[in-house]
Amino acid sequence: MSQRTNAVEWLTHARSLVDPAMREAVGRLDPFLGRVTSYHLGWCEPDGTPTSGPAGKALRPGLALLVAEAVDADADADASRGESDVRRARRGAVDAAIPGAVAVELVHNFSLVHDDIIDRDRERRHRPTVWSVWDDTTAILAGDAMLSLAHEVLADAGPHADAASLALARATREVIRGQARDVEFERRDDVTLAECLAMEQDKTGALLAVSASIGAILAGAPQPVVDGCHTFGAELGLAFQIVDDLLGIWGSPQVTGKPVFADLAAAKKTLLVVWSIEYGGDAGADLAAWFATHGSRTVVEPDELKRAADLIEKAGGREWATAAADSHVASALGALADLGLDETAHHTLIDLAHFVTERKL
Ligand code: IPE
Ligand code: MG
Ligand code: MG
Repeated sequence: MSQRTNAVEWLTHARSLVDPAMREAVGRLDPFLGRVTSYHLGWCEPDGTPTSGPAGKALRPGLALLVAEAVDADADADASRGESDVRRARRGAVDAAIPGAVAVELVHNFSLVHDDIIDRDRERRHRPTVWSVWDDTTAILAGDAMLSLAHEVLADAGPHADAASLALARATREVIRGQARDVEFERRDDVTLAECLAMEQDKTGALLAVSASIGAILAGAPQPVVDGCHTFGAELGLAFQIVDDLLGIWGSPQVTGKPVFADLAAAKKTLLVVWSIEYGGDAGADLAAWFATHGSRTVVEPDELKRAADLIEKAGGREWATAAADSHVASALGALADLGLDETAHHTLIDLAHFVTERKL
């Protein structure tokens, strides 16, 4: 690895590696769905006019490539080789992981385009969502197109393509299961903390887990290393989701691109809500009553949303979630500890884990 040790620099670098392959893949779609997908990815306006706005973080592809660099089996296999050979081999591992990086980014975006239909969210990344620009049918098809494209791209990923494809298919199944539970929980008032944790593990942890493990798989890493990277991503995903849940209540709209208290307005049973109800004493009981009254309503007044947020805070849910996010980051980093990773790339992974969970409220 070169001198790149900072997560933000790595993500910028990774984006420059992944972007041409993403554009080539999206270019295979029919012109209309290609334009819709390009709009969703922030590359153009709805009419196809190219945009020059900032690209997304591309966290998942960045993670896939960074893990490939960190675990590179060939580079470590022959310690007697010169430094430049090792560097060259690592570059080879990163290149081999590019189809995996493209595939996880496509699956992520498939899930978002469909998620916005499910949640009836009109805005994402400060722009109108696909269904609200076009219609549900277009958004369903654009999502389907991205999902199938992901597997098409991965099929060309060389000797480890089959294992990578299986890992991605499993993760996608878990994401979809998580989405089903997420919607179900909006209608239930008896969701347990364990159920909620499993839902968030599926919904968010599964894709970050496969983003990390696919980099290791495509680099030809041994199974224990693949498993360690998978755990790293899963734990990081949970931390990420808990921070997302905090932002969904207290995040400023400038940061989240969503209306204030958006998750409460949708009666989301996130981990911190469920924890507050289960362990939050009197405030938790008041919160349960709040959800019983407001959960099924379509419009909730802003002062009522504020009251629910205050109840969560009083119940200790905000404090608990902040500590839980930190503890999942610690578990994530623990999973990487004994994998014999390249030292510089390992440092960047540590920085990435902190970067991902330090989004501002
Ligand atoms: C999105 O879930 C996760 C998936 C698409 C699998 P959410 O509905 O909680 O997330 P945002 O806030 O819309 O991104
Ligand atoms: Mg959503
Ligand atoms: Mg959702």
